[in-house]
Amino acid sequence: MDTFKIYINGRWIDTGSYYEVFNKYSGEPLARVCRASSSDAFEAVDSAEKAFQNNKLTPLQRYYILEKTSEILLSQQEQLAMTIAREAGKPFKEALAEVSRAANTFRISAEEAKRIKGEVVPLSTTGSENRFAYTVRVPLGVVCAISPFNFPLNLVAHKVAPAIAAGNTVVLKPASATPISSLNLCRIMEEAGLPPGHLNAITGAGSEIGEALLDEPRFAYYTFTGSPTVGKQIRNRIGLRKCTLEMGSNSATIVHSDADLEKAAAACGRMAFANAGQVCISVQRIMVQKDVVKQFTELLVRQAEKLVLGDPADPKTDVGPMISVRDAERAEKWIAEAVSGGARVLTGGSRTGPLLKPTVLTGVNNSMKVVCEEIFAPVVSISTFNTFEEALKMVNDSKYGLQAGVYTGSISLAMQAVQELEVGGVMINDTSVFRVDEMPYGGVKESGVGREGPRYAIEEMTEPKLVVLNI
Ligand code: SIN
Repeated sequence: MDTFKIYINGRWIDTGSYYEVFNKYSGEPLARVCRASSSDAFEAVDSAEKAFQNNKLTPLQRYYILEKTSEILLSQQEQLAMTIAREAGKPFKEALAEVSRAANTFRISAEEAKRIKGEVVPLSTTGSENRFAYTVRVPLGVVCAISPFNFPLNLVAHKVAPAIAAGNTVVLKPASATPISSLNLCRIMEEAGLPPGHLNAITGAGSEIGEALLDEPRFAYYTFTGSPTVGKQIRNRIGLRKCTLEMGSNSATIVHSDADLEKAAAACGRMAFANAGQVCISVQRIMVQKDVVKQFTELLVRQAEKLVLGDPADPKTDVGPMISVRDAERAEKWIAEAVSGGARVLTGGSRTGPLLKPTVLTGVNNSMKVVCEEIFAPVVSISTFNTFEEALKMVNDSKYGLQAGVYTGSISLAMQAVQELEVGGVMINDTSVFRVDEMPYGGVKESGVGREGPRYAIEEMTEPKLVVLNI
């Protein structure tokens, strides 16, 4: 079994203490990964701070390193995808797509590194005569990146690539369940020419390094994807420092009677179950207009029943295991609670170990956890509405607001949805799941603060510095 070491100041360090990472489908040990201590976390920040102060990279150097990283990622696509399939349980075809997306995230960040710019500030107030003012955008310093298990490569890319593009240095703490893809990325960036100290990765399970990272005053910025509980802890502990928090959602998609139903059902049937529903914008709630709900539901159930459940390493698999048996049990319990409250299971609902069958529910209400909480499982519910206003209200009746989808043939209904939905992004004639990596991505309410997407993340990870010339 391979041992994976932590990465500090360009050195691979064996900490002498380990934990096991499991194959999420078979449950067998996959690798032994070093457990970092709080003093390793301190050293990692030291290394990032020194690199930031003493070895700044020019925009062109950053461009070359990020572009080269993108090339290497693509050249190793199959191996990297197999690692994702094993450590995260993501079906191989989706894992291949994730590697390709990560390469794209690096390529976009490389391009953005060359065009970070401020603006001319026209001064017209009496007393400002003969002054010429402009801003430049400067990096913040050392970035703390805490990444989730569900996209162990591309959501790491979305933190690391813009941070480096902006001229910051990084300490990365990947999810304890899926650290191998992050460590692979460190190796690839080293090969791409990233000098020591610019990216450091510490791994571990338990709270010790998490606490150390939150107590560390030298971080200028935190970028986090994960649960609202941890996101709020970060927000409460970092004082005046900036952060981006992406904390999930119970995303909704509206299907109006004037929509292309076959297209909507096919897309919802794929996107409710992609990565076993463990996607922050997964289609969890579908609101369908009453007149077409029967037809839509039949199409959706048929689609869900066609999906192949099984080993993510098998290219034919559509839906793999959830990240742990415990999480699958939790989802199963929420389904049972909904059923005891009057919901009906139209398909799925049963579980073998971490494999939960794609599940479609109806007869739900907003007090059920399957509706009002983020289920993060292959479970979708259908509700009905009469008027479009009712559907918009149902979507907004949530503590979350990340992305929403709206299927309609009417441009005016689409524009009404854009205006009234309380979310970070509205996808017209797509599900809530639509995302390509150049998009601004983030939410409102408990879904978080700030935006990812290289250009937007660079904005968050830099600040404007004003220059006024008295000429
Ligand atoms: C997420 O789960 O937040 C990421 C979704 C995506 O990148 O497609």
